[in-house]
Amino acid sequence: MGTKEAVALSSGTDADALALAVLYDFGARRNDEVIVPALSFVATGNAVLQAGFVPRFVDIDLRTLNIDPSKIEKAITPRTKAIMPVHLMGKPADMDRINRIARKHKLLVVEDAAEAQSARYKGREIGTLGDMAAFSLYIAHIISTGEGGIITTDNSAYAEILRSLRAHGRACKCAACVLNTGKGGCAKRFKYNTDIRFIFERIGFSAKMNELEAAIGLGYLDIYPEIFRKRKRNFLYIRKKFAKFRPALLTIDPGPGEEMAPYAFPVILSKGLKFTRDEFVAYLEAAGIDTRSLFLSMPTQCRGFGYLGYKPGDFPAAEYAADNGFHIGLHQDITEAHIDYFIRLVGKFLELKN
Ligand SMILES: Cc1ncc(COP(=O)(O)O)c(C=O)c1O
Repeated sequence: MGTKEAVALSSGTDADALALAVLYDFGARRNDEVIVPALSFVATGNAVLQAGFVPRFVDIDLRTLNIDPSKIEKAITPRTKAIMPVHLMGKPADMDRINRIARKHKLLVVEDAAEAQSARYKGREIGTLGDMAAFSLYIAHIISTGEGGIITTDNSAYAEILRSLRAHGRACKCAACVLNTGKGGCAKRFKYNTDIRFIFERIGFSAKMNELEAAIGLGYLDIYPEIFRKRKRNFLYIRKKFAKFRPALLTIDPGPGEEMAPYAFPVILSKGLKFTRDEFVAYLEAAGIDTRSLFLSMPTQCRGFGYLGYKPGDFPAAEYAADNGFHIGLHQDITEAHIDYFIRLVGKFLELKN
């Protein structure tokens, strides 16, 4: 995608966490805060905590399923160090507004681009729009390494720190390490051991990508154009066929100048229907169509975050999407015939319930 650097890692969650951990080299302290959307795959919130920061949740905009930029500034405190928008379901977050807020408050921006491989925002690639971008290469994503992640950035100093962080915080070629371990430095500090591989300059992780995974990823690069073509065909086809179910059933749309990644197809039930999401997905699943929810409101619906003290109702849009939404896949092996079957079933169910 044209960034100067890409650092391969063991997962997308590690990519989120390590990108944030770079902040410690620039004065951040444990328990500083990172702003994230309330609705995402739970890895987003977990990664903030794993990096030693505290997530500050902000509600989403139901029309985009992404963080609502108009609510970000209220969540900024003197401890805030970064914003991590998520491009959920392949839909780009409003990066111009987010970057403007970040610049004003001197915050780092890390894109959680796990679900947005290949998406574009106002003519630019997702993954090039913040200070760093974290991708997942888990099997659910377009290019996969089985398990894996990757961080893209134009900042070579960040990339060098990331190479250290993924290997236990080992000394690297970044300015701080060279200063500490360079000519004569290590001999002075370490009486017995001047082996740079056993000099650790920061608190690190064990998050390297292994060769086997990398080989799978290289194979995927060869077949990527074909995978992308088929997924894009599915994305366009299902959107066209689904349009007749609006406004009862909603989905999210690309904004001006945006291209969504053909990652998955989200469905959100409008208010006031005569059936619940659970009845709807049970009907689909009985007919052989597998679905997944639109994740949960991390602060109010994922028990592990309970200690942060948020209350049900604090994030109405995220909670609505979690209770009234679901998504289905757009995998390259899904054909137009499969999509026609899905559309027929949805039509029948709506008839049944009317
Ligand atoms: C938005 C988001 N962030 C982070 C991740 C974590 O990626 P991984 O499963 O590779 O750890 C995922 C997983 O798909 C995700 O959807």
